Order: sequence, then C-alpha cells, then structure tokens
Amino acid sequence: MKLIKVKDYEELSKQAADYFIKKIQSSPAMIIGLATGSTPEGMYRYLVQDYQENRISFRNITTFNLDEYIGLDGSNENSYRFFMNNHLFDHIDIEKSNVHIPCGTSKDSSAECATYEQLIKAHGGIDLQLLGIGGNGHIGFNEPGSSFQSRTSIVELTDKTRRDNARFFNTFEEVPTEAITMGIATIMESKEIVLLASGEGKREAMRLLLEGRVSEDFPASYLHNHSNVTVIADEAALAGLNYSL
Ligand code: PGA
Repeated sequence: MKLIKVKDYEELSKQAADYFIKKIQSSPAMIIGLATGSTPEGMYRYLVQDYQENRISFRNITTFNLDEYIGLDGSNENSYRFFMNNHLFDHIDIEKSNVHIPCGTSKDSSAECATYEQLIKAHGGIDLQLLGIGGNGHIGFNEPGSSFQSRTSIVELTDKTRRDNARFFNTFEEVPTEAITMGIATIMESKEIVLLASGEGKREAMRLLLEGRVSEDFPASYLHNHSNVTVIADEAALAGLNYSL
C-alpha cells in the first residue's frame, strides 16, 4: 500500500484527478470503477474542468460504480446515479451506454447483482477503482463483518452508515436500509485501487487502516492484501497517526 499525504481537501481532489487523468491519457479505453460520497466530489470537479479545457476525453471510457441504494431510482436526487450524472457524467463526453451503476429499483435485485458481476467480468475486470472509506471502514457498502469473499450483493446498511449519510436526506427515516454493492472480492479483483480520505472525521478510519490488522471487522483493511493500492489522504485525516507502510 502506498500513501500520498497531501495538505488539504483541495490538494487531495487535484492530485486524485491528476492521477486519473494521467491513466486515462495513457489508456483512453480503460475500465474505471467510481465511487460516490462527499470525498470524490472535488476530484470530479477537477475532471470536469480538465474536460472543459479540452485536455481529456472520456469517449471510450467505461465505468462501473460501486453501489446504489435499493428503492431509489435515477431521478431521485439521493440516488447514486443522480449524484454521478450531476457531478460528472452530464458534464463530460462519456457515452451513457458505457456507464454502469447497479439499478436500485430492479424487480429482482438478486438477479441485478448477478448481472452486474457478469458485466464487470465481460469487460475484462476493472483497471482502476476509486474508493472512499466509511467511518466504520466500509468500502462500497461492504459494512463491518462483510466476508472478504463477497461478490456484488444486496446488503443491509448499518445505523452508523445511515446516520453518516442522513445529511443528504430530509429525515433519518428516509435513508434507505439496503443497497446493492460490489463485493469485497469484486473490488479486490481491480487491477489498481486508489482510496481517498479527507478530514478529521476519517482519522480513526485511517488509524485502523494504517496501524491496525487485517480483519473483517474493518473491511478496508483487506486492501493490504492487494498489490497495487494508493491511499491519498490529507493532513487532517492523518494527524497524530503512527504508521509505517
Ligand atoms: P464520504 O463517504 O465520502 O461521504 O465520507 C465515503 C464512504 O462512505 O465510502
């Protein structure tokens, strides 16, 4: 695991965007895994800016998002499809048919999971996967206790995750209780992974990731078993930590 320490959220966003831009420039038809949440918003802003300055094209890029809430369709502003359109896809030249996000309103969510998993395989797997990290160590919506063998599946969200995400909803009760998420094994098959962490709210998660042991109680810890992971974290997320990578 490599660690890139940056000053603050702006620098994290810029560095993460530059990292992806360089990869896309050298492999314009790559398969990218994307994440939602507050953390990647700045990175997406920089990607859009780069596109608008005509330096990068997404025309041949294919994307797979990590997860989606069950019960929210793409027109719901709290759905992850809406988030991705709003922050990235509506502003760049990606072919919408190359964008993949699990469907949260499928009549058969189990079949949706199997199809999603097959689709990733049919594309030859993900070349570069972006991750955030939950305060409880979740990656995608793989909550503590998730099996390291897990594949794309329906998961129940923990109260902690629902509380963390309630800021986007009118009430806590509105936060969905279930989601579809790529599994940990699915994520681990990505050829390369970049994880972003910003702010003191992520400090405990960074401590457990960088100083702790590999355990299903802290899903992100399994990334230590992947050979090509880069963590980009800011000073606030890393303050006071004693780690050696
Ligand atoms: P955040 O979420 O970027 O909104 O903090 C990260 C995550 O839950 O993976």
